[in-house]
Amino acid sequence: MKTGIITGCSRGIGLATVDLLTNDNIKIIGTSTSGNCSISKPNFECYRLNLSESESIANFIKDIRNIKIDFLVNNAGILLENWNESAINLDHLKQTFNVNLFGTIELTEKLISNFNDNGQIINITSDWGSFSEKNFDEFQPHYKMSKSALNMYTKLLAKRLEKQNIIVSSFDPGWTQTDMGGSDASRKPTDVAKDIRNLLISNPESGHFWHRGKIREW
Ligand SMILES: NC(=O)c1ccc[n+]([C@@H]2O[C@H](COP(=O)([O-])OP(=O)(O)OC[C@H]3O[C@@H](n4cnc5c(N)ncnc54)[C@H](OP(=O)(O)O)[C@@H]3O)[C@@H](O)[C@H]2O)c1
Repeated sequence: MKTGIITGCSRGIGLATVDLLTNDNIKIIGTSTSGNCSISKPNFECYRLNLSESESIANFIKDIRNIKIDFLVNNAGILLENWNESAINLDHLKQTFNVNLFGTIELTEKLISNFNDNGQIINITSDWGSFSEKNFDEFQPHYKMSKSALNMYTKLLAKRLEKQNIIVSSFDPGWTQTDMGGSDASRKPTDVAKDIRNLLISNPESGHFWHRGKIREW
């Protein structure tokens, strides 16, 4: 049985992905800041993890006790600004980077030694973190910077882990109906969960940015 970690599974894309993957013969370790998740299945455990606190990351690593993993989906993320905000708020910038970038990197680096051969890391980023967006605008600056930096981490880590046969990908879910995306979004979390599952089972080439089953521009 394969084992994977999915962060941020109390709701939204993370919850839908855990629900889908636990129907396969896979053991999933999920996380939320409270340690709670509405899913109850024998092959699923949820742990407390706050990515903005190093102590919480260290406690999570201790809790899972050197467990060997086949994949890590860095899904947890925050969007603090209103969608029409373009001004930089340094406090929001730091909080956003603490979760979406620094905490995500700290967790990933601490888990690298836990990977089995042919492991996979998927960093959930966003079209809002892309440099090639055709409809680029000045809004959501903190979130966009955090996701573009995470995309660069994907590329760097993919190169670094080449010899260890660990595949590292960025993944753009598209605009999705969640607390973050709102109810007008075009995609459902269950659709995105299927894309994540397909990416995991497709053994993709490392170091790319994926959207709806295809490589997209950074
Ligand atoms: N929805 C969209 O349209 C969209 C588009 C592009 C990319 N994305 C990306 O997709 C991922 C999932 O988004 P979503 O829409 O499903 O968001 P969501 O519904 O807001 O869920 C976010 C998840 O992240 C967790 N989380 C929040 N702060 C955390 C922290 N400090 N430490 C650890 N976990 C924390 C939350 O757990 P708690 O319940 O404990 O707070 C929750 O489970 C994010 O990385 C997001 O940036 C979303």
